[in-house]
Amino acid sequence: MATNFQPSLILLSLLLFITLTTTLAQAPAPGPPGPTNITKILEKAGQFTTLIRLMKTTQLADQIDTQLNNSNQGMTVFAPTDNAFSSLKPGTLNSLSDQQKVSLLQFHVVPNYLTTSQLQTVSNPLRTQAGDTASNKFPLNVTTSGNQVNVSTGVVDTTVSNSLYTDGTLAVYQVDKVLLPMSLFGPASPAPAPEPVKKKKSGAEADAPAKDDGSASVDASGAVVFGGGLGGLVVVFVTMLWL
Ligand SMILES: *[C@@H]1O[C@H](CO)[C@@H](O)[C@H](O)[C@H]1NC(C)=O
Ligand SMILES: *[C@@H]1O[C@H](CO)[C@@H](O)[C@H](O)[C@H]1NC(C)=O
Ligand SMILES: *[C@@H]1O[C@H](CO)[C@@H](O)[C@H](O)[C@H]1NC(C)=O
Ligand SMILES: *[C@@H]1O[C@H](CO)[C@@H](O)[C@H](O)[C@H]1NC(C)=O
Repeated sequence: MATNFQPSLILLSLLLFITLTTTLAQAPAPGPPGPTNITKILEKAGQFTTLIRLMKTTQLADQIDTQLNNSNQGMTVFAPTDNAFSSLKPGTLNSLSDQQKVSLLQFHVVPNYLTTSQLQTVSNPLRTQAGDTASNKFPLNVTTSGNQVNVSTGVVDTTVSNSLYTDGTLAVYQVDKVLLPMSLFGPASPAPAPEPVKKKKSGAEADAPAKDDGSASVDASGAVVFGGGLGGLVVVFVTMLWL
């Protein structure tokens, strides 16, 4: 009896000891508790209010947090400062549709954790959350010269000026320009390109603004409305006859 009792007592105190020590070891552990919150990280860093607002309206902040919690690939975010946004040409953001804003923001997110040294050896073009890396879509290149790391989109070239946050899963790097993708700001895109010339190119997206343009499409839309009205009238007339 006693020989059975003693080992279990030892086992029990051992368990208690392990529980106590792990609890004690966990308590003062550094780093943010719970799931990563990109908004909180950017708030703490300061000067990212525009990015925070855009991440909220496009729901990208939630997506990043969820993805970080649910995958182990980690993530790298290029964070343009408020200055970067305010030095865009006036109306640049407003010229984008909601979907284009989402793409612009996703273009700043790489679905892998990249340390600064990994950044310097990564193969170009980098795949971002915006997808397609074809030269007229969303290519993002990293170029290095000495200790300077640049990201280049084909539209803008800017220096990674600061490492704001790294925790082994999420890396946030400050950039001083908004990364404008070729797809939205390249020479053949419908949104305003850096040069003032606004040419209308053929393509699915180029057709969209024509819908809003009442004066340009008066004939076409007028005819459609009239046709529709007439159809409705005929239906009403036939129904009345039927009755
Ligand atoms: C992240 O932090 C922001 C601001 O600190 C807060 O408003 C938001 O609710 C947080 N998100 C989550 C999922 O906790
Ligand atoms: C994080 O992931 C765990 C499971 O891996 C899940 O139970 C939890 O709800 C997730 N939290 C958030 C905020 O998504
Ligand atoms: C990005 O890198 C790829 C591969 O090296 C190259 O083909 C492409 O021209 C580069 N694009 C830009 C904008 O630098
Ligand atoms: C990095 O970008 C800056 C402009 O922001 C430019 O002056 C510099 O030459 C670029 N460096 C490299 C290595 O591309």
